[in-house]
Amino acid sequence: MKTIFSGIQPSGIMTLGNYLGAMKHFVPLQDEYNCFYCIVDQHAITVPQEPAVLRENIRRLAALYLAVGLDPNKMTLFVQSEVPAHAKLGWIMLCTSYLGELERMTQFKDKSDGRGESIPAGLLAYPPLMAADILLYGTDYVPVGEDQKQHLELTRDLAQRFNNRYGDIFTIPEVRLPEAGARIMSLTDGTKKMSKSDPNQGSFISMLDDPATITKKIKRAQTDSDSSVRYDKAEKPAVSNLMTIYSLCSGKSLQEIEAMYEGKGYGAFKTDLAEIVVETLRPIQERYEQLFHSSELDDILSAGAKKANAVANEMLHKVEKAMGMAR
Ligand code: TYM
Repeated sequence: MKTIFSGIQPSGIMTLGNYLGAMKHFVPLQDEYNCFYCIVDQHAITVPQEPAVLRENIRRLAALYLAVGLDPNKMTLFVQSEVPAHAKLGWIMLCTSYLGELERMTQFKDKSDGRGESIPAGLLAYPPLMAADILLYGTDYVPVGEDQKQHLELTRDLAQRFNNRYGDIFTIPEVRLPEAGARIMSLTDGTKKMSKSDPNQGSFISMLDDPATITKKIKRAQTDSDSSVRYDKAEKPAVSNLMTIYSLCSGKSLQEIEAMYEGKGYGAFKTDLAEIVVETLRPIQERYEQLFHSSELDDILSAGAKKANAVANEMLHKVEKAMGMAR
């Protein structure tokens, strides 16, 4: 059975982009693959975190992973910091990296822009830790949104470089982007990624937004200059993004959606879209509420960490031995 690994940062709000670009696609994979899904808290601390808030966000993300339909009997869900091999292999991967290739990462450039002398060094060291996450499990496929593609390419380079030097230790992982939804755009700017760090709350939908908030955000979402509901990413990025969301949440194809709203304008389309998004998130939010306060959640994370530790430690030992470290 092939292995899947993916991670999400517990850094606040989970957006509809996280759901449609990543989490939603994790669910069917658990039936076909050996899946490891991780709450990457050590990635979250590359920027300062408030302890109480981080603690709550870890729990929140764990509950959300399960609420979208991941089943602890089918996959392994765990918290990164509870599996020390990640930090250890992260260091080794950092030592395998070149400064130049880390400085070239777009996400590093974006996040460090304007910080002058105070760029957190963790932001630079972040992709080698991500490589370690993936490589520890002999991962074949990594399902992520498009913004993580460059980090995956670096992971492959580092794995290859390590193997060339020390022998055939790592499986070279492949990225798996969803056919649709790999890049859900901001509701207020169809040319920008939907991001939880956007200061404009109207630009994203949180997976935990209530129906009234979702409806308001969708009603106010940017549209394009003409009034036709037509998919054209280059000419009509805002409406095309809303159509992608509609399609992913309803299961209808873009052509079906175009046909449904021909000659009707944006009003009817947005009213229906709001309802579809509300109904998509409603069952997730209900399950989330039950799970967040349950002790079952702690049991699932403990069992997940145990399983992950067993697999990760074995790989770490192999790596250290190949390098001349483990006795
Ligand atoms: P993070 O926490 O920023 O995002 C989690 C997942 O959501 C996807 N995503 C999106 N997809 C489509 N449209 C959007 N607007 C959108 N915003 C976010 C991301 O692509 C991602 O799949 N570095 C990673 C976490 C990580 C990881 C890993 C992932 C750490 N180690 C190992 C895979 C494998 C991150 O910051 O994702």
